[in-house]
Amino acid sequence: MFFFCPEEEKTLFMGNFCRKPVAHVSSTSFFGTTKSQRKTKQNSSSPKQTALKTSASNVDKPISNKLKIFSFNDLKEATKNFRQENLIGEGGFGFVYKGWIDEITYAPTRPGTGIVVAIKKLKPEGFQGHREWLAEVNYLSQLHHENLVKLIGYCSDGKHRLLVYEFMQKGSLENHLFRKGVQPIPWITRISIAVAVARGLTFLHTLDANVIYRDLKASNVLLDSDFNAKLSDFGLARDGPTGDNTHVSTRVIGTHGYAAPEYVATGHLTPRSDVYSFGVVLLELLTGRRVVEDERPGFSEETLVDWARPFLSDSRRILRIMDTRLGGQYSKKGAQAAAALALQCLNTDPKYRPTMVNVLAALEALHSSNSFPRTPKSGNDNHSIKHSSHSNKSATNCNKQ
Ligand SMILES: Nc1ncnc2c1ncn2[C@@H]1O[C@H](COP(=O)(O)OP(=O)(O)O)[C@@H](O)[C@H]1O
Ligand SMILES: [Mg+2]
Repeated sequence: MFFFCPEEEKTLFMGNFCRKPVAHVSSTSFFGTTKSQRKTKQNSSSPKQTALKTSASNVDKPISNKLKIFSFNDLKEATKNFRQENLIGEGGFGFVYKGWIDEITYAPTRPGTGIVVAIKKLKPEGFQGHREWLAEVNYLSQLHHENLVKLIGYCSDGKHRLLVYEFMQKGSLENHLFRKGVQPIPWITRISIAVAVARGLTFLHTLDANVIYRDLKASNVLLDSDFNAKLSDFGLARDGPTGDNTHVSTRVIGTHGYAAPEYVATGHLTPRSDVYSFGVVLLELLTGRRVVEDERPGFSEETLVDWARPFLSDSRRILRIMDTRLGGQYSKKGAQAAAALALQCLNTDPKYRPTMVNVLAALEALHSSNSFPRTPKSGNDNHSIKHSSHSNKSATNCNKQ
């Protein structure tokens, strides 16, 4: 994959961005080092080599030069000086604000006029954010797909590093799956979200550069007003193995619980690492539980995956771990098929995980089958299912209904 650097970034960041591992400071992600990390390989193909294998209809030509370059003052104005009430999210990289810009000129406008955008502002501390900022500009300026969030522009003004994206009205999947008080997402929508995420990952994995997303988690899946899902946050994405290479060796970064075990153990990254993370997100969609409920001392270290595995491998017991907030409004067959797929994705041996192409095909078949909400014969049917609690993580909103 070709990486472009804004002119002023070249001397400052390009060398480091492309070659040297740098400690990760994300609050939500972990980092570590491996023996093999020094062998980091980067593909530095020319812009002309960005040819993409997937259907041309999904992909525009590289349009990095079409991105709007904003000044810091523009974005300050668009967010009313990064006012607290416009804060819509926080990740490892920085704070995300709602802002308003003119639809045509992209000049800042008064709140409520023009178009709404999401503006991510790098946290000031640390160098790591620059790498992630640059990775996002590089990938999202070149990759265009209906299941990837659209990058409108960026700001690299003095020390300031910001990114401007299309605004995703419903925010992150994390907020809808786990937050108390939100409307539960219906089964059909959960499967549509899984299909959308699988399409986004399939698109990345079938590019010539075999792009690995590396940070799939519920907080990085964004939802528009109709619950269409898109992948956001390309800060950790990188080109995958090409030619005879089976993996790329890299520093271990990602998010606890979502990262594939072999990647955490060895630093060997492959597209199958994303497949594992996909299995975790699918499991979260089925159960309505976070992969890691609470990392405070005293809480169990058992992850959702460890806990759910025995249920997933027994099609009769699967219903016991389904999200009770679904109110039994799903078909048993559909749940069993989705759980079986999650189990395959979560195989500890990456060899036995399906490819994203296969995962997508399976989910599309499930989506188009009639495995959709079926009101239980008796309104109380779902209550007859004995639900299991997730060790001491059961004190969550999940099974309380
Ligand atoms: N385009 C967007 N529209 C709406 N909300 C967004 C958008 N981008 C990010 N967010 C919110 O901000 C949070 C953090 O964004 P993310 O891109 O993951 O940042 P980080 O790189 O710091 O992890 C997301 O989980 C989401 O709640
Ligand atoms: Mg994030």
